[in-house]
Amino acid sequence: MAGSILPTVNRQVLLRRRPVGAPTNDDFSIVDSAVRDVRDGEVVRRTIYLSLDPYMRGRMNEARSYAKPVALGEVMVGGTVSEVIQSRDPAFTPGDLVLGMDGWQSLAVSAPTNLRKLDPNVAPISTALGVLGMPGLTAYVGLLDIGQARSGETVVVSAASGAVGSAVGQIARLKGCRAVGIAGSREKCDYVVNDLKFDAAVNYKDGNLVHALREACPNGIDVYFDNVGGAVLAAAIRLINRGARIPLSGQISNYNATEPPVGPNLVPLIVNRALIRGFLASDHFDRYEAFLKDCGAWVRSGELRYREDIVEGLDNAPQAFIGLLEGRNFGKLLVRVSPDPTRPVVTPGLQTRAT
Ligand SMILES: NC(=O)c1ccc[n+]([C@@H]2O[C@H](COP(=O)([O-])OP(=O)(O)OC[C@H]3O[C@@H](n4cnc5c(N)ncnc54)[C@H](OP(=O)(O)O)[C@@H]3O)[C@@H](O)[C@H]2O)c1
Repeated sequence: MAGSILPTVNRQVLLRRRPVGAPTNDDFSIVDSAVRDVRDGEVVRRTIYLSLDPYMRGRMNEARSYAKPVALGEVMVGGTVSEVIQSRDPAFTPGDLVLGMDGWQSLAVSAPTNLRKLDPNVAPISTALGVLGMPGLTAYVGLLDIGQARSGETVVVSAASGAVGSAVGQIARLKGCRAVGIAGSREKCDYVVNDLKFDAAVNYKDGNLVHALREACPNGIDVYFDNVGGAVLAAAIRLINRGARIPLSGQISNYNATEPPVGPNLVPLIVNRALIRGFLASDHFDRYEAFLKDCGAWVRSGELRYREDIVEGLDNAPQAFIGLLEGRNFGKLLVRVSPDPTRPVVTPGLQTRAT
């Protein structure tokens, strides 16, 4: 891209209004803005991949959580992998591939604060948004630091075929645990058992979850890594062992709720002296080097596998994000905003990539 003419138009997806319940396409607007001139110290990036993540639903609400909401009319927040196409900062040159937080847009012009350079020879650049990025770090610290998973224990994880859950079960196996996944379809359950080598999987939409979990976990549950909350958390709590740990990673079953959720029975936590602990991956960046060393080696050796669900084109980001909250994604959900120079052109219709 070095020396090529810079684009003059930046396509952006803005938050148009705050959703009530599940988001719809009308909550977003897609606009073309003029690209402003680059100033000294700034870098222009072309977005290659945009990450779509459950936390974005929270940012669409007015209420402040651990991070401030997206303002109405503002570009939706999001992690990105991009190519530098112009630089007035000596630390960056055109062609550099970078991890950033440029949001739902095709271009970004700003000072390069918080840009992390990526080496495509280490792993496919898209993995910096998934298995070797924030979701992978969530799995790693949540399972090993918060969950304290130990060899021989039974680890159960929900949203098991997704970006976080798929890594949790595989790292659990790599650490000598029995890994049991909970997912929302037969196909997803087959994937985590047959492809990712979990010991068992349970479809939570398939009738009696407590009964199915009991069969999958004959020795009970030592770590329940909770990505979803609600009825699935309630079922897992019924089977926890003495001294069990429950890293509370996410509560996606409640993200579109308009009423406060009906809580699970927490009595087994008391009876079994179990620890439930919420955590945010962003508090654990001190673990990034250890995480990349371990998980990078596992990804390269093929022991830690990942699946990407790549949607083509920024205009499809709202619909894809709505689907994420309904379980329509299968694997780490990404938007390919522009061509990936490190990966051959994808045959139309063959957008899903799995290692
Ligand atoms: N604490 C942290 O720092 C941190 C960081 C990253 C992510 N997270 C959390 O981790 C969880 C998974 O995130 P991810 O990025 O890996 O997403 P993901 O699993 O790739 O995609 C979301 C999945 O959630 C499941 N889901 C959606 N609605 C559900 C419902 N009502 N009940 C049960 N499951 C439902 C769906 O799978 P099924 O078809 O299997 O239902 C869907 O495919 C989220 O709760 C997220 O907020 C936390």
